[in-house]
Amino acid sequence: MTRNTDGLRGVSAGRTAIATCGKAGRGLTYRGYSIEELAAHASFEETAWLLLHGELPTVTELVAFKKRLRKLRGLPPTVRETLEKIPATARPMDVMRTACSILGTIEPEGDFSRQIDVAERLLAFFPSALGYWYRFVQHGERIDTNTDDDNIATQLLHLIKGTPPLADETSAMDVSLVLYAEHEFNASTFSARVVTATLSDFHSAVTAAIGALSGPLHGGANEWAMTLIERFDSPVDAVTNIDAMLARKEKIMGFGHAVYSVCDPRNEIIKTQSQRLSQGHPNEKLFAVSEAIEQKMWAKKKMFPNLDFYSASAYHFMGVPTSLFTPLFVVSRISGWAAHIIEQRADNRLIRPAADYVGPDDRPFIAIEQRENSQ
Ligand code: COA
Repeated sequence: MTRNTDGLRGVSAGRTAIATCGKAGRGLTYRGYSIEELAAHASFEETAWLLLHGELPTVTELVAFKKRLRKLRGLPPTVRETLEKIPATARPMDVMRTACSILGTIEPEGDFSRQIDVAERLLAFFPSALGYWYRFVQHGERIDTNTDDDNIATQLLHLIKGTPPLADETSAMDVSLVLYAEHEFNASTFSARVVTATLSDFHSAVTAAIGALSGPLHGGANEWAMTLIERFDSPVDAVTNIDAMLARKEKIMGFGHAVYSVCDPRNEIIKTQSQRLSQGHPNEKLFAVSEAIEQKMWAKKKMFPNLDFYSASAYHFMGVPTSLFTPLFVVSRISGWAAHIIEQRADNRLIRPAADYVGPDDRPFIAIEQRENSQ
């Protein structure tokens, strides 16, 4: 029997030493470390270093890395001016894509000898670009992104909210950045590798990855999940409506996965964070609504939530506007994309698959004056 390989499901499209997910007996690992252990013990910066360099950092390496990232938070004037010119109605993912692209013109990569520097710059750059644009369009403020916040999670929330975040919010954000950092040959990472394999530059690869990530079947699902959850007044309301949506064959965003078949190992971790943040929040009921949807989806379809589902309520409880959820994914996933760009370059071959042709058989060309009669 021939396997259905549409969407390249189950097809190995290359080798990687960065992550494995959904393989027999294994959940998700980054460089051999389980996601459970990383989320419990490693900060996002430690995780990013691990992805980029293959090993966990020493204390000295981590301190120096974080210091370099803090120094790279500034935005060149041309980036700030470009961000200010983007319409307030633009999708924030389009803002991230544009910001990356414009940075590539101001600080071009040149030859590939500085690729780690470019990766570090992008890690520090994305929270600043997002925060600057958001505060400018929402509040007309021209903020200084060179904050002295210790880490990316804190700076990100600080810039978005305009006030230093609570410790609980920062630690949940840090965990979510660890969870979103890397996921093997997902659509955006594969896009980055395809562009990289042409020997194009870092910024082009990342810009392509952002475009892929913005779709609702990939990173955009966390925003759609939030929009869904917010529609329901109570768990009962949620269950009734999910039933009706499934009867209409609608997809429930934040459920299902192209690789995992039993559960998404990241779900329990982010769900715990969401539950913790929900306690005492004015919109606390959203957690109960989410759980009701989860139970209904399992009972009716044997489908489980993926990382995007409880990330949605977790980000909401942290005070992040829904339209910024997918850009937060970029802030994290740049670490994985960068690791894959570097890995692809180290053993490169142009990625150029074949296709099964299903079009017409060979046929003679028809001169234009004869076409109407003959077709
Ligand atoms: N809600 C309801 N039904 C779903 C579903 C969902 N979230 N995801 C898949 N299905 C159904 C499809 O309708 C299809 O049903 P059918 O066979 O009756 O037509 C079947 O399950 C297979 O769906 P398909 O989209 O082909 O599965 P896939 O393995 O290729 O896709 C996803 C994986 C992630 C793209 C898919 O589950 C999805 O679209 N999920 C919602 C978006 C999302 O959360 N994305 C984030 C991924 S981390």
